[in-house]
Amino acid sequence: MHQNSYLITGASGQLGTEWQHVLKASDVDFTAVDSDRLDITDKTAVYEFLRTQKPDVLINCAAYTNVDEAENPESANDAVNYLGVKNLADACAETGTLLVHYSTDYVFSGNLSDQKSFPNGYPEDAPLRPVNSYGRSKMKGEEAIRESGICYLILRVSWLCSAHGNNFLKTMLRASNSGKQLKVVSDQIGSPAFTFDVVDLTRKLITLKKTGTFHIQCDETISWYEFAEMIFREAGIDADLAPVMSNEWPVKAKRPAFSKLDTTKLKHETGISEIPVKDGIRRVLNEPGILN
Ligand SMILES: NC(=O)c1ccc[n+]([C@@H]2O[C@H](COP(=O)([O-])OP(=O)(O)OC[C@H]3O[C@@H](n4cnc5c(N)ncnc54)[C@H](OP(=O)(O)O)[C@@H]3O)[C@@H](O)[C@H]2O)c1
Repeated sequence: MHQNSYLITGASGQLGTEWQHVLKASDVDFTAVDSDRLDITDKTAVYEFLRTQKPDVLINCAAYTNVDEAENPESANDAVNYLGVKNLADACAETGTLLVHYSTDYVFSGNLSDQKSFPNGYPEDAPLRPVNSYGRSKMKGEEAIRESGICYLILRVSWLCSAHGNNFLKTMLRASNSGKQLKVVSDQIGSPAFTFDVVDLTRKLITLKKTGTFHIQCDETISWYEFAEMIFREAGIDADLAPVMSNEWPVKAKRPAFSKLDTTKLKHETGISEIPVKDGIRRVLNEPGILN
């Protein structure tokens, strides 16, 4: 497979924007579509689009990502994250397209006690036991891809951060301007994944013609509170931070307490040795418009 034409779905989101930046600076032939141009829940439209475009690689950045709203059975959660993904997989089966899809740490149970069984984080083949609707829909999306029999890459990421869109790092910087004390959860641990690392490592896996499921995440295991501390340290901001427990911060959807993903397979297959959190934070902070 020569793999030189790409289609990006969900192109206006955080990860889709990063993909567009990277591919614009390369010689790759690509088409990027947002939800207005291609709604992945529209099966007919998906088939027609793929039959016309015949991309070698489909990068699916489209997802329903409102974790709390996903608890509402009326939400588009299942329609997008399960049935929409199934549409893409079935259409890729017809056109022989490699489907690159992003999933999440939320497919795992996230019990803190799992840290004992998986001290380096959940490996790719750990049992899938999501604890909320978003996690269940993402798990069903993954299963639909595997059952379709196509060539695929499923990349599980967590705590996605970048200079674009909405994410924790940008929320912290914005909140620090309020001058108020910032309460941040300290009993949920995991690690971020930065969109530039995710795109770079996905491209490496595609170039190496790897298929299957991989985890992409930074190395250090930290709490959200410790992540906030690192962000403010790197930004040189003296923020008034206070740790809180999850039960003091009520939200609609249950969150995993343990979100560490084992990246041994990724490192072995791509030859990379480390993905430090600090490097990712510094790179985002250096982007124009982030600190000033
Ligand atoms: N953000 C995180 O912390 C995180 C963590 C773990 C995994 N992930 C996964 O990483 C991937 C990228 O996440 P992200 O942060 O880039 O998400 P995002 O910023 O919320 O972007 C998602 C994109 O999907 C589009 N979309 C929604 N419904 C669609 C539909 N029916 N058809 C076509 N496009 C549709 C949205 O477009 P509209 O705005 O127009 O609806 C939006 O542009 C997702 O698979 C997500 O599940 C994210």
